[in-house]
Amino acid sequence: MILKEIEQRQSVRQFSDKKISDEDIKQILEAGRLAPSWMNVQPWHFIVVDNDETKNLLSQSANNQKQIKDASHIIVMLGDFSAWNNKNFGQILVEKGIPEEGVQQILSNKGYNPAKNTNAVLVARTMEQCSFSISFMNLQAQSLNIDSCIIGAFANELTGFSPEIYQKVKETLNIPESSMIAGMLALGYRQEGVKNLPKKRKSFETVVSYEKYGQKFE
Ligand SMILES: Cc1cc2nc3c(=O)[nH]c(=O)nc-3n(C[C@H](O)[C@H](O)[C@H](O)COP(=O)(O)O)c2cc1C
Repeated sequence: MILKEIEQRQSVRQFSDKKISDEDIKQILEAGRLAPSWMNVQPWHFIVVDNDETKNLLSQSANNQKQIKDASHIIVMLGDFSAWNNKNFGQILVEKGIPEEGVQQILSNKGYNPAKNTNAVLVARTMEQCSFSISFMNLQAQSLNIDSCIIGAFANELTGFSPEIYQKVKETLNIPESSMIAGMLALGYRQEGVKNLPKKRKSFETVVSYEKYGQKFE
């Protein structure tokens, strides 16, 4: 069932003026909130942006990508590094019946706990979790016949784009020091006449192996 939505989803960059209802936006956010994450750490926060001034600023922060200005709403996804220090991280191990000592051992292991590892690992692991959440929102939008475009090219600590604009974005959105923009989802309804293009993807054979790399799955 969901494969149909996956096949039909495509990044849309020409949005009409039609607004998405709050009810639908909330359903999309719900899909993101319910996404899986490592040990259920949920290192994310979603800021819904509806006003034109902020959308313009976000567009500027993303090399003036027009679809950000024209979207009905933007969901700005924050990666929340503080989540890894939260008591909730590891709670799932307690729920699984692992004794306290074992939990502490796991949480102090840098292989398990990105907060004990380098900043690069912490950022990578946070982005990894956020990708699941943004994908879930993307597909929920599709199932509501709402078009979207995931945005990854914007100013943040990773890209280093336009630091002054990023500073302004941080102030405008009141982004806490412990968070960083991990992604944006531009949402709206496509302009009339915008058709889906054929999917350009590597072939099944190219990207799939059976049992070992290079062996066909027939
Ligand atoms: C992590 C990520 C970041 C992306 N960043 C942008 C972006 O900044 N601007 C944009 O127009 N499209 C962006 N895209 C959309 C991709 O270009 C698009 O998904 C890809 O070309 C495949 O096309 P489709 O989504 O229409 O199937 C991004 C997609 C992903 C998954």
